[in-house]
Amino acid sequence: MKQQLESIQKQAMEKLAQASDLKELEELKVAYLGKKGELTQILKGMGTLSPQERPIIGQLANEIRGSLEEGILSAKNRLTRELRNERLKAEVIDVTMPGKMRPVGKKHPLTTVMDEMKDFFLGLGYEIAEGPEIELDYNSFEALNIPKNHPARDAQDTFYISENVVLRPHTSPVQIRHMMSNTPPIRIICPGRVYRSDTVDATHSPVFHQVEGLVVDKGVTMGDLVGTLQAFAKAIFGENSRIRLRPHHFPFTEPSAEVDVSCWGCDCSGCRICKGEGWVEILGAGMVHPNVLRECKIDPDIYSGFAFGVGVERITMGKYGIDDMRLLFENDVRFLKQF
Ligand code: PHE
Repeated sequence: MKQQLESIQKQAMEKLAQASDLKELEELKVAYLGKKGELTQILKGMGTLSPQERPIIGQLANEIRGSLEEGILSAKNRLTRELRNERLKAEVIDVTMPGKMRPVGKKHPLTTVMDEMKDFFLGLGYEIAEGPEIELDYNSFEALNIPKNHPARDAQDTFYISENVVLRPHTSPVQIRHMMSNTPPIRIICPGRVYRSDTVDATHSPVFHQVEGLVVDKGVTMGDLVGTLQAFAKAIFGENSRIRLRPHHFPFTEPSAEVDVSCWGCDCSGCRICKGEGWVEILGAGMVHPNVLRECKIDPDIYSGFAFGVGVERITMGKYGIDDMRLLFENDVRFLKQF
């Protein structure tokens, strides 16, 4: 019996050393240590042994069981290590391989121009102010010194939601909101969407974007306005740009002006961009009307201010030579990819 036990151990250890996967190992475990395993079978025959032999064989059998268990464990460790090494080898990453090119998005040209404008004015110390697109008639017209019978109030120009509520037709109501809840010095720009009851064509859209500017402080003059807009034109259209002011009328500014910039396409000699004019109109501006300041509880005898409103689509189209505004809203990637 002793010999039998020892040969089982020898055989088992050899097989364990050769086991090449975990399944085979499991089978060996069952074959030797399982209920019907070889070792178990032999131990069942111990009843036939004499009382002297029994403890000796018993101890030997236990030792062998122990050493088989150890052998199985170490074979298991060996196999899992081998398995892991193989897997790691198969998963090696070649960091020198060229990467997969993913299509990347781009900023919409309107956003690019908006961001350039914001950067410029933030650099001058302006803050960004925002207001709702659904706005009171009062903030959109009344407080801006636009009388009841003014053509801008006509339903042909403005989308009315109710008698007193409109889709804001310009960003100027944000001026009012800001002046109502702040005291000078005020230096803000208000970028945002505006709505007008226009039919879509190459130069009109019922929704477009403006950037409004407002400065109110003691001793603000038209000279400050001109200097600011001159620097703005250089920042957006290039160092050589000059501006000119043409007298105009806005109810909320006095005096008011339309502002042109020297054509960046031809430097005033006439080209497709300026339609032969040499100059391109870019914005409306003026000194804040005393009635507007007063309405916002700012004393016009102490404070003065200037304001301006820029159409973002117009500037973007001019800057990039886009001749149809609809291209800016259709979001055809073939168009957008060009910027
Ligand atoms: N709100 C004017 C418009 O939409 C633009 C403007 C703003 C003019 C501020 C002067 C001052 O046409």
